[in-house]
Amino acid sequence: MIQISDLTKIYRMGTVEVRALDGVTLDIAKGEFVGIMGASGSGKTTLLHMLGLLDDPTKGKINIEGTDVLALSDYEKTMFRLYKLGYVFQDYALVPDLTVMENVSLPAMLRKDRSEEQIRKDSDFVLERIGLLDRCDHLPRELSGGQQQRVSIARAIVNKPDILFADEPCANLDTENSRMVLDLFHDINEEMKQTIVMVSHEDWHKEYFHRIVRLKDGKVVSDGTNPSAH
Ligand SMILES: Nc1ncnc2c1ncn2[C@@H]1O[C@H](COP(=O)(O)OP(=O)(O)OP(=O)(O)O)[C@@H](O)[C@H]1O
Ligand SMILES: [Mg+2]
Repeated sequence: MIQISDLTKIYRMGTVEVRALDGVTLDIAKGEFVGIMGASGSGKTTLLHMLGLLDDPTKGKINIEGTDVLALSDYEKTMFRLYKLGYVFQDYALVPDLTVMENVSLPAMLRKDRSEEQIRKDSDFVLERIGLLDRCDHLPRELSGGQQQRVSIARAIVNKPDILFADEPCANLDTENSRMVLDLFHDINEEMKQTIVMVSHEDWHKEYFHRIVRLKDGKVVSDGTNPSAH
């Protein structure tokens, strides 16, 4: 369960003030697949950054599964991210000099609570799940964009996070690869009962979302279940 209340982010540049988020209040239940939609500049990435503990809001509260996450120290935030959250970026953000297997294992190794053998098993499992186990010794640049994004999804779920955030994960992909990525999120949501919060501005993506939250100028302008979701 994610409880967001009066979340506000103001960027100040000289005398100019941008209200990137302007009092967002929202509850997201466990297991939901939520789409955050809205025009460019409406505050989608800013919202996801705050929820992913990548940046601090100017005002407001975020409670994730009973934890007031904004009250955590930087170290505690890092640990919270490592144990509870997964994040998928638009540009994949894979480490270019590490193999696919090493990229996927990285968050598991950072946790330091599993044996090397267990990490290998868990990484094998997610790579198999995304259909790229046979490419485990390749470098990211040897894969297509769609394949790289699937690797970044494997990396985001290797620690079995409670919540998966994805910011325009299909922005650099063609329709076919976008569908593969969206189907993967759909299946992860069904199989692992994982909460997924995904940002998109592509209208056709909404067929995948159980619930659609629309932002405009940093405010929630509509929020509703999507009866026609897959
Ligand atoms: N680091 C920053 N410094 C100053 N202004 C920022 C910063 N990041 C975002 N903004 C501003 O905040 C507003 C919201 O930006 P945000 O990136 O959240 O929009 P978005 O909905 O993700 O847009 P897009 O669809 O183009 O990715 C915009 O007006 C943007 O210019
Ligand atoms: Mg954005």
